[in-house]
Amino acid sequence: MSRSDTTLPSPHKIVVANWKMHGNLARNHTLVDGYLQGLKSLSQADVVICVPYPYLAQIQSLLSETHVAWGAQNLAKYEEGAYTGEVSAGMLCDFGAQYVIIGHSERSTAYCESDENIAEKFMMAKRHGLTPILCVGETLLEREAGVMERVVGKQLETIIRLFGGEAFANSIVSYEPIWAIGTGLAASAEQAVAMHQFIRDTVSAADKSAADTLKILYGGSVNPQNAVQLLNQQEIDGALVGRCSLNAEQFIKICQAVPENSVV
Ligand code: PGA
Repeated sequence: MSRSDTTLPSPHKIVVANWKMHGNLARNHTLVDGYLQGLKSLSQADVVICVPYPYLAQIQSLLSETHVAWGAQNLAKYEEGAYTGEVSAGMLCDFGAQYVIIGHSERSTAYCESDENIAEKFMMAKRHGLTPILCVGETLLEREAGVMERVVGKQLETIIRLFGGEAFANSIVSYEPIWAIGTGLAASAEQAVAMHQFIRDTVSAADKSAADTLKILYGGSVNPQNAVQLLNQQEIDGALVGRCSLNAEQFIKICQAVPENSVV
């Protein structure tokens, strides 16, 4: 269930749908109807839908009376001003968004976003009471070279250096190996768990109490089959789901893979 009515962190694992640049008014409506139907009998997970900007008003009206929360896939690092084409944190809040994906590799690669830029967006989200979902992860070359922890560590350290470890309190980090996104080749539970432990240890070294309230998700080719093993790992607090979130049946199966009574 969403934590819209409380400031306390929810104890549930969380499944985030990232629709990316998919959808239209009619398809969104059908997809959300499918989600809501399937989620009626599901209470063990929090569910969040991150939509393209133009559909924030639609998703607000579809989800306002439900326990499902929503968010966006990016935001500007500025409050407001002459930044043509940008969307501010305040605008997202106007449409009831509670979450925002930050630093997704499909953006950082295509639009050359630096770690510093991503860190500023992260803090902008926090300042507005939005929960940032910070994406971190390595390329295949980096994994093969064995430097994945160095790469992910640098992404986290940039935020720690600029804003302190406390910035991670009640935030979300999603481990998204770039080689696993949209490829059908998910990380193994073992690979994900090892990186999740590294992420929590890195944040904990900077601020132990912030690390205790941080949720760490896994993203990258999550599907109904691999979700069972991934979401049963204690270190994995949820999933960020791209392709399979565009199919209500598959998305619900992923949500159902969250074990009953699991607590993060
Ligand atoms: P995918 O996308 O599930 O399609 O691999 C995941 C993501 O981009 O977070």
